[in-house]
Amino acid sequence: MWKPVERIKYKALDDEWPSADEAAKSRLFSSVAIGDISLQQRTWIPAMVPWRSNEEGEVTQDVLDWYQRFAEGKPGAIVIEATGIRNTPSGPLLRIGDDRYIPGLKKLVQTVRAASDGKTRLFIQLIDFMTIRRRPDTQKFLSRFLTISDAHRTLLQMPDADDGVVRDNLLALSLEQLQVVLTEKEWEDMSFGYRERVTDTHINEIAELPQVLPRLFSDAARRAELAGFDGVELHFAHAYTMASFLSATNSRTDGYGGTQEGRVRLPLEVYHAVRENTAKKFIVGCRMLTDEIFEQGSRLNDATYFAEQFASVGMDFLSFSRGGKFDDAKQPKVGWAAYPYTGQSGYECMPSFISDSFGPFGRNINPVAHIRENLAAKELKVPCITAGGIHTFMQAESILEKDQADIIGFARQSLADPDWFEKVRQGLGGQATLCRFSNYCEGLDQKHKQVTCELWDRVDLDVDGVSKTSDGKRRMIAPAWKSS
Ligand SMILES: Cc1cc2nc3c(=O)[nH]c(=O)nc-3n(C[C@H](O)[C@H](O)[C@H](O)COP(=O)(O)O)c2cc1C
Repeated sequence: MWKPVERIKYKALDDEWPSADEAAKSRLFSSVAIGDISLQQRTWIPAMVPWRSNEEGEVTQDVLDWYQRFAEGKPGAIVIEATGIRNTPSGPLLRIGDDRYIPGLKKLVQTVRAASDGKTRLFIQLIDFMTIRRRPDTQKFLSRFLTISDAHRTLLQMPDADDGVVRDNLLALSLEQLQVVLTEKEWEDMSFGYRERVTDTHINEIAELPQVLPRLFSDAARRAELAGFDGVELHFAHAYTMASFLSATNSRTDGYGGTQEGRVRLPLEVYHAVRENTAKKFIVGCRMLTDEIFEQGSRLNDATYFAEQFASVGMDFLSFSRGGKFDDAKQPKVGWAAYPYTGQSGYECMPSFISDSFGPFGRNINPVAHIRENLAAKELKVPCITAGGIHTFMQAESILEKDQADIIGFARQSLADPDWFEKVRQGLGGQATLCRFSNYCEGLDQKHKQVTCELWDRVDLDVDGVSKTSDGKRRMIAPAWKSS
């Protein structure tokens, strides 16, 4: 992962914990309305893909066990991981692209309701993503995958050569020479792996995304409603299709790109389609970026405008992240696909303990506060969720006291200790295991390995009945809380 040059090492904060009485009077443990429902506390577990589904994208027993463990901590809300809205194979990512997924998802809802004694609200994150392929071996790319064109013939000064001869000549070139002969896109396909963009409108499926996506999202939301979820979170953040429409790099000329108005058009159409296809009480919010972080990306002023648009049409919540883009991702190894959390934008999305003078904690607080202030100034009321390096009660309470957000997201902290919420609420915060922000979990995600936390995945590994990862080396879920 990318690291700031300063490389200053940080430890988890050594803050004080509230007594049960103080917690009961705190803002963090006060209720908050979201649309027509309310959360019992202002704590939120943001979406995290744990690689627990199967090739069919189904809710497996591992998925149920995973979310049951989080629900035992009784946070205000859990957002189920990014779940694919299409009915197409996408590896072991959870899917909601067909009615056959409804029974499994229903079970997931029931599991969370039971484990949290009905205290935790449950949302599911709906995602669409475009094709990305693994980085090919250079030889294979030149001899098989590359489409030979007249431009290659011209640059190689062999106008009449057949494809085989052109390929042989390309294979004999150095990388520097190849970079001159290949187009920018061909060079990227060879050195990073093929990746579709929303601007590839010469591809029919991409040109037609604005016609297709509202329906796919709204069908998925209807299934989520039938399964019993309290609502959906539309994934408009990070490296995926909808965030790419919002991106400053979206130069589509069909009315769905270019200006801020053009870039927000499809996300708004998706929202309206979802709203029309679900009951009024069903919660519809989104996850979006305060900043794309890479140089040509959208900035805070874009996000402020987008948030205003989303709030104006009646979105029920706005959950903020930052970065997490392909645009500045590191070159993957041959045989691996690019991963959107390897560049600086990835660092800003999941800051690690090796940081700069600002540090890894709360890097998104001020941007979210700015957006929220702007919404308030325009009398737009929508709960805003902030996240990023938050792991203590005092951090969270101070954000709420300063009116910088309405709800606090704890992603990696809840992985480190799913009981954090109950421990703090009961005045036992000192017993919480605090995240080190080493990004061990993110490293597993990058390799598409079952996500666990280094702080507990080897604990009591040999105890009977402990379920283990496929390599047998790690436990799958955090051990039960033994109150000390
Ligand atoms: C293993 C892992 C998987 C993640 N998957 C998702 C995801 O599916 N959707 C999403 O919006 N964010 C995802 N994230 C980002 C988190 O939701 C969160 O924004 C980020 O970790 C920063 O918050 P934190 O400092 O509280 O961990 C993931 C993070 C991790 C560590």
